[in-house]
Amino acid sequence: MSKHNSLNTGKEITLTIDGKTCNSTFGKTIIDVARENDIYIPTMCYLTKVKPIASCRMCIVNVEGVDGAILSCQEKATDGAVITTDNSEIYTERRNIMKLYNVNHPLECGVCDKSGECDLQNKTMEFDVDEQPFTTRDQHRPVENWGHVSYDPALCIMCEKCVRVSTEITGDEALQLKFGGYSSTIVNTKIEKNYASLGEAAAVCPVGALVDTNFKYSTNAWELEKIPSACPHCGGGCQMTYEVKHDTIYRMTNNFEFTSLCGAGRYGFDYANKNVSKDAKAFEKAVEAVKNAESILFAPQITNEEAHILQKIKALTGAKLVSHEARAYQKFMDAYGSVTGKTLYSGTLKGISESTAIIVLGTKIYDDAPTVKYHINMASKWHRARVAYMHPLEDVEMKNIVTQFIKYEPQSEEGVAALLVEMLLRDVEVPESVKTFLNDLDIGNLSAESNVGEEELELLRKSMLKKNGFSLVIGSDLYAHPRAEQIAKILALVEKYTDFNVVCVPPAGNAMGVSLICDLDNEATGTTVGYNVEADFVLSALGNAEALDNSLDMPALNQQEGTLTSNDKRVVPMNVAQPYGGYVLNDIANALGLDAEYTIEYTKALPREKGFKEVEFDSLPDYFDTVGTEHRGYLLEECETSVDESLEEVAELDGFDGAVVYTCNPKEQFSAFTNLCEPLKEEAFLVGSPQFATVTKLSDGESISFTVDGVTFKRVFKIDTSMKGTIALNPTYDMGLSAPLVSSYRFSKVEIMQEKKIGS
Ligand code: SF4
Ligand code: SF4
Ligand code: FES
Repeated sequence: MSKHNSLNTGKEITLTIDGKTCNSTFGKTIIDVARENDIYIPTMCYLTKVKPIASCRMCIVNVEGVDGAILSCQEKATDGAVITTDNSEIYTERRNIMKLYNVNHPLECGVCDKSGECDLQNKTMEFDVDEQPFTTRDQHRPVENWGHVSYDPALCIMCEKCVRVSTEITGDEALQLKFGGYSSTIVNTKIEKNYASLGEAAAVCPVGALVDTNFKYSTNAWELEKIPSACPHCGGGCQMTYEVKHDTIYRMTNNFEFTSLCGAGRYGFDYANKNVSKDAKAFEKAVEAVKNAESILFAPQITNEEAHILQKIKALTGAKLVSHEARAYQKFMDAYGSVTGKTLYSGTLKGISESTAIIVLGTKIYDDAPTVKYHINMASKWHRARVAYMHPLEDVEMKNIVTQFIKYEPQSEEGVAALLVEMLLRDVEVPESVKTFLNDLDIGNLSAESNVGEEELELLRKSMLKKNGFSLVIGSDLYAHPRAEQIAKILALVEKYTDFNVVCVPPAGNAMGVSLICDLDNEATGTTVGYNVEADFVLSALGNAEALDNSLDMPALNQQEGTLTSNDKRVVPMNVAQPYGGYVLNDIANALGLDAEYTIEYTKALPREKGFKEVEFDSLPDYFDTVGTEHRGYLLEECETSVDESLEEVAELDGFDGAVVYTCNPKEQFSAFTNLCEPLKEEAFLVGSPQFATVTKLSDGESISFTVDGVTFKRVFKIDTSMKGTIALNPTYDMGLSAPLVSSYRFSKVEIMQEKKIGS
C-alpha cells in the first residue's frame, strides 16, 4: 500500500522498468516500485516518510507513450507501463541540475561538517560535475544558531525536506520556506522555543546546512563507529544508532527515511554510568541484600532480560517484585484483556497515522510519548484527521493538530470513558449485558460530574460520521486511577465491538516489557533492595552508588545488550554503546544460583505465553529494507486470555476542589537518566497558570514544598501564562532514586507549603 494513498485498492499491476518486469500494487509511485525492485533512481528532494516534495527533478524518467520526462517520485505506476530510468538525455538533464545546485554552494567540503555523508557531494561526483560553471553575486548570509541546531543559509539547497519534517512529522511547524531568488532561505518561526524536535529536521538535511549544534566540528563523520540500538526513554523503542569514537558517544542518528527520533532520543544519550570498576566487597553485600530482601523495587528502565532475571530471583527467594508504573499498566491491561480476550491492545502507530479521526484520552501525549504524537500529527497533515483531545488540561503544543479539546474534571475518567463508549457503541450490535450497562448509564449525571457536555460529545460524534479509519489513544492517567480496571473494561468494548485502532500507550521506560514478564506485587514490605529506586540497599546505574552506603553500581541501558518492548508491541534489540567495568544484575543472579554467562542468554527464554518468541539475541534482525519494511527484532504475538465481560456500575468519586498537581514531565524528560544529559538540561519547576497562582496564593519564583506518595518535592513555582485552570504540572525526572516511588493517580490534591521568597 502506498504510504499516503488510503484509496489505494492494492490491485496487482505489472510494469517494465529498464527491461525488468516488476510486479507491484496499484497506488505506488514509480520510484516506490523501482526501489522494490532494486532499481536506482537518483533524487535530491525525495524523503520517503513525507509526501513527495517534487522540487529537484533529479528523479525524472521516460514513460513509453508519454511526451517529455516525468517525475518518478510523484507519478503513480500504472499497469503495463514501460519505463526508462536512464539514458543520455536524462543523464544530461540530471547533470545540469547538479551544476545548478552547485551555483554558489561553496564546494569547500574539507571544512564542512557534512563532508563524507553529503548528498550534494556524492551526486556532484556521481554526475561528474568538477567545476562551478555559473555563479551569482555572493551575499553575506551569516550562520544562525537556533539552539539545538544551527542553520547555514549559504549551504542550503532549498530542498524543503526540513520544512516537511517539521510540518508533517514532528508537527512543531517551526520551519518555513522564504522565497527570494538566490536569497531564498529557511526561517525558524519559533526560534525562542528551541524545539529539540528540530534535530529530526537536521537529520534529513542532505547537506551541511542544518546541523546539530553540539556535534558541529566535533569529529569527522567517517571516524565514527555506528552501533545500532533502540531508544529506551519513553517506551517508544525508536530505532537509533549510536555514533561512537574512543568510547565516547558523539551523536545519535536514525534511519530517517522511515523513522523519526524525538529530542530526547536524539540528544539524551550521555547517561552512562562511567568509570566503574568491580567492587568485590560491595558486590558481596549486594548478593546478601538481594538474597535476604523481602521486596525488590525497580524502575522500568531495565531490559526485558533483566526483568526476566528479577522474575527468576523472585522464584528463588520469594521476594516481592514492585515496580509501580508497570504494575498499574499490568493491572489495566489484564482488565482490558479480560474483555477483548487478548493479551495486547490491537492498535499500531501506523494505524494512528492512517486514521481520519482520532480520540486521545487520559494522557498529555506529546510529553508522554512523542512518537505517538508524531503519528497523530501525520494523520492530521496527510488525512486532515479530526483529533479530539480529552484531558483536564489543554496542551498548547497540540493546538495546531487538535480539532476539539474536551476538558473533564480530574478523577472523572470512568464517567468520561462511559460517556464516550456509550456514544461510540450507540448504533453497534452488542451483547445484551453490554447493552444493559450502556442503557443504565445516567448520562445527565455523568456529564454533570465530569463536566463533559452532551453537546460536546454530539459534536464529536457528528465530526466522525463521514470519516473512515478511527483510532483511540489511551494513556497513563488511566492506569493508576482508583477505578483503573473498570475504565480498562469499558474502553476495551471499543476495541472489541468497533473497528477502532486502539493503542494503550505504556508508561515510560520498558514498563510494557516489565508488565508482561514479571509477576508484580502491589506494595513493598520488609527489607528492600532497589534497582534504580531508593531502598535499604540500592543497585544504581545513576552514577551515585559511591555516595550511598549500601549500594552497588549497575550499567545504564546504553551499556547493556538486551531487548526492550516498544509501544508498537515490538521486541527490539539494544547494543552496548559505552563500556562498563562493574558487576551486572546477571552476576548477582549467578551468585544466587542461576546460571547464565551473559544476560542475553535470557532473550530466548522470555515468556512465550505473553507473546515473546524463542529467538537468540544474536539472531534478532535490526534494519529497514529499501522499501521501509521494519526488520527490527520481532513483533510480540497476540495470546488469548479468558474473557469476563462483566461491568460494574460507574462509581462516583469525589472531585478535587481548588489547586491540583499533575505528575508530568516536560517534553524530552522521562526519568533520572534523561536528566543526566547535558543538552536536555532544564530546571524542574512546579508550573501553573495565573489562576493556579491566585488560588494557591503563590507568586512566581516562590519556593515551596509538598508531598506526593511520601516523596517530598522542594520546588520553585513558575507561572506559565499560556496555561489555564487550577492544575499545575509537577515533574519527577529530577527526583533521582525517589522518582519511581511516585505511584498514584497522576492528579493529586496536595498541601503546598510556602518556604521563602527568592531574593527576600
Ligand atoms: S536546510 Fe537542509 S533540508 Fe532544509 S531546505 Fe536547506 S538543504 Fe534542504
Ligand atoms: S523518547 Fe520515545 S519517541 Fe523519543 S526517540 Fe526515544 S523512544 Fe522515540
Ligand atoms: S525526487 Fe522527484 S523531484 Fe526531487
